[in-house]
Amino acid sequence: MLNREFQEIYNNVELMMSEALTNSAHPYRTFSLASVDDKFPNLRTVVLRKFSFEKCFIDCHSDIRSPKVDELQKNDKFSALFYSNKEKIQLRFKGKVEIFHKNSFTKERWKEITPSSKRCYLGPYNPSDRLEKYHPNIPENVKFENPSEEESSMGYDNFVIIRCHFNELDYLKLKYSGHLRCKLVFEKKNINAFWLAP
Ligand SMILES: Cc1cc2nc3c(=O)[nH]c(=O)nc-3n(C[C@H](O)[C@H](O)[C@H](O)COP(=O)(O)O)c2cc1C
Repeated sequence: MLNREFQEIYNNVELMMSEALTNSAHPYRTFSLASVDDKFPNLRTVVLRKFSFEKCFIDCHSDIRSPKVDELQKNDKFSALFYSNKEKIQLRFKGKVEIFHKNSFTKERWKEITPSSKRCYLGPYNPSDRLEKYHPNIPENVKFENPSEEESSMGYDNFVIIRCHFNELDYLKLKYSGHLRCKLVFEKKNINAFWLAP
């Protein structure tokens, strides 16, 4: 059970995340997802697709052929960074990912993806491959029109859900009268919350 101040923060984060899921202009609609290869941290922007505080996960979608998936399969640790300039609130989640590929979750999620977005998974090249000359990495026949159900079904084989299971959240709100910073640590059904020096 959280005390009143931490509960308010929790509720506010939950509200902002649910708004971000329905409003594509929301600052939390995209976030920076970090992974580590053997030597370097790697960051990239991804779109928020699902969030659950209760089950402690954040979902984004990707192509199984992309380097991030390979990296996260070798080292499942991630960090996810959100910032709202309007609210002046930074959120940093940490934990381990699980990659869903051709399972019941991806099957259901694929049905919700628009035909236009499905084009992203039809690229003839592996994402991040070096190219001899410019190519948008979408097939010629779907460049100006949406793929048919049959055409887009090939993209399903490349589609993955990156489920980021977080076990901690570092929350920072900037305020003139003094910044506010705390950490929520998620342990099974318990949440351990404490203040941090901003
Ligand atoms: C606004 C924005 C949203 C993006 N969303 C995604 C996404 O949801 N999934 C994804 O795989 N790449 C997304 N990208 C592209 C990634 O940032 C990145 O360039 C690409 O996935 C290659 O990353 P990698 O080489 O680390 O695998 C997005 C880029 C931008 C600018």
